[in-house]
Amino acid sequence: MSFAVAIDGPAAAGKGTISRAVAAHFGFAHLDTGLLYRAVGAKVLEGADAIEAAEGLRAEDLQAGHLRTAEVAQAASKVAVIPEVRAALVDFQRAFARRDGGAVLDGRDIGTVICPDAEVKIFVTASPEVRAKRRFLELRAAGSTMSLDEVLADVLARDARDSERATAPMKPAEGALILDTSELTIDEAVAVATKAIAARR
Ligand code: DC
Repeated sequence: MSFAVAIDGPAAAGKGTISRAVAAHFGFAHLDTGLLYRAVGAKVLEGADAIEAAEGLRAEDLQAGHLRTAEVAQAASKVAVIPEVRAALVDFQRAFARRDGGAVLDGRDIGTVICPDAEVKIFVTASPEVRAKRRFLELRAAGSTMSLDEVLADVLARDARDSERATAPMKPAEGALILDTSELTIDEAVAVATKAIAARR
C-alpha cells in the first residue's frame, strides 16, 4: 500500500532532517527532490543545457559529491524556474510518492503539484535569520568560508526566486500543517511531524 508524506518549505528550515527522521521512524522511503534540481544545476555549471540535463538525468547523477555547495544551490534554484525542467522530473517523483510501503518527499512543490493527494502535507518554515545561521554552520563545517551575511543574502535570493516563479512556486499546500521550527529543537520538530503522520495512518 502507498502512503505519501509531502514535506515542503524554504532552504534550511529543517525539512531534510525532519523528512529523514520520519521516514526512518515509519519505515518509509525518502526522496530529497532538491537533489534532482541540484544535479541539473551542477550539469548546467559544467556547460550542459538545462532541459537536456533534466531529460537525461540518471540515478547516479544524484550521488555527485559537490551537490551541497552554495553555488550548486543557486544554480538549482535557477534551473527550477524553467517549466520544461520541472516537467521532465514529474513522473519520477510521482512514481516514487506512490511506491509500495510509503514515501516521504521533501521539496518546494510536493504538496501543491507533485502529490496534491498526499495523505499528509507539512510546510516546514523558520525565520530567514535562523535558517541562514543553520546553513552557515553547515557550510562552514563542510569547509566553506562564506560569511553569515553572505549566506543570509543567498537564502533570501533563493526564497524570492523559488516563491515568485510562475511554475510551481513554493507555497504551503491547501490543508498543510505549518511547522515553524524557529524556536524548536530538532527533536521537538520531528515529534510534531511524527504525530501528524501517526494521526493519519
Ligand atoms: O531543497 P534544496 O535546497 O536542495 O533545493 C535546491 C533548489 O531546487 C531550490 O532552491 C529550488 C529547487 N527545488 C524546486 O524548485 N522544487 C523542489 N521540489 C525541490 C527543489
